[in-house]
Amino acid sequence: MTSPTDGVVFESVTKRYGDVTAVDDVSFRVAQGELVTLLGPSGCGKTTTLRMVAGLESVSSGRVLIGGTDVTLRAANERDVSMVFQSYALFPHMNVLDNVCYGPLSMRMERAKAREIAHGKLAMLGLAGLERRLPSELSGGQQQRVAVARSLVLEPKVLLFDEPLSNLDAKLRRRVRQEIRELQQKLALTVLYVTHDQEEALAVSDHIIVMDGGRIAQQGTPHDLYESPASRFLADFIGDANLVDGELAVTASGASFGAGGVSAPVRADGMAAGPATLAVRPHRLRLVDAGRGLVPGTCKRAAYLGSRAEYVVESPWGELLVFDADALTLRGRDEPVGVDFDPGAVILLAR
Ligand SMILES: Nc1ncnc2c1ncn2[C@@H]1O[C@H](COP(=O)(O)OP(=O)(O)O)[C@@H](O)[C@H]1O
Ligand SMILES: [Mg+2]
Repeated sequence: MTSPTDGVVFESVTKRYGDVTAVDDVSFRVAQGELVTLLGPSGCGKTTTLRMVAGLESVSSGRVLIGGTDVTLRAANERDVSMVFQSYALFPHMNVLDNVCYGPLSMRMERAKAREIAHGKLAMLGLAGLERRLPSELSGGQQQRVAVARSLVLEPKVLLFDEPLSNLDAKLRRRVRQEIRELQQKLALTVLYVTHDQEEALAVSDHIIVMDGGRIAQQGTPHDLYESPASRFLADFIGDANLVDGELAVTASGASFGAGGVSAPVRADGMAAGPATLAVRPHRLRLVDAGRGLVPGTCKRAAYLGSRAEYVVESPWGELLVFDADALTLRGRDEPVGVDFDPGAVILLAR
């Protein structure tokens, strides 16, 4: 059984460096067995937050709890957390096994016992047989897995990842992120994960905390953040979005959104009439024949991508990016078209 105090609790934490407030009154929780991601552009305070959980950085105010215990004033080695760094931080002169045994040995574990546990973790990560290699004799993905094995070997309460995939190429990133997620789920690890890559965050997380300028902009499940972004920044930052500034009109018979002299029915969902921004994902738009659909336009660019066609359409609503699942009838450049969507496909944001 897990209690609500297990995992990590971050309570109104602020971190100042002189005049810079790197983290500004941030509160969140990582439940036991959950993977929570801190996502945001460079400089938004992700690493600082992670380092305050690890005890590598002190807090200016607020509290940090791990497993129900207030660890705010505890040193890093008294917190039962382990961190996996972007650069892996493997010892280059030590082989894989010695790298993984280093932590337990420095905690005075018996050598035979440390080796046994290390062999177990390496096997679990698909690294059996590579124990005698030096880090320089491994691929990037293998080095990353050694770094994970090294942080798992002490069986910490909480595992912290700071942009663990940024040194890998795109294909490997996808595979290793799946491996990390599978391992986390299989072992029910409690993980706080940092990335600036929204797709990676969507792929691995139970819960995402989006940070902007040291503050939490929004938090929720991947689905919540993608389908119901709370602001223009969030709609734009997570996934592709067309953003159109206009006016929302609400009458007894329904709501409509207008921009550039063209109006379309939308669901107001309780929003008041007035200036609004419409956000719509490219795959929620469809291209139809000219004279049909909700917004008229001209096809400016068309690309056939096999599984879909991608269009840029010039319209009274500005340039619209359209991912059309119907890639069979590719529209041509300068062809007049209509853009269509369902009223429920758009997100309305106050402006
Ligand atoms: N040791 C430090 N001294 C002064 N400013 C710092 C220090 N560490 C981080 N900062 C500042 O705090 C802010 C957040 O940094 P960081 O947490 O590293 O962001 P992220 O990991 O999201 O890229 C940045 O403005 C950064 O310049
Ligand atoms: Mg960082």
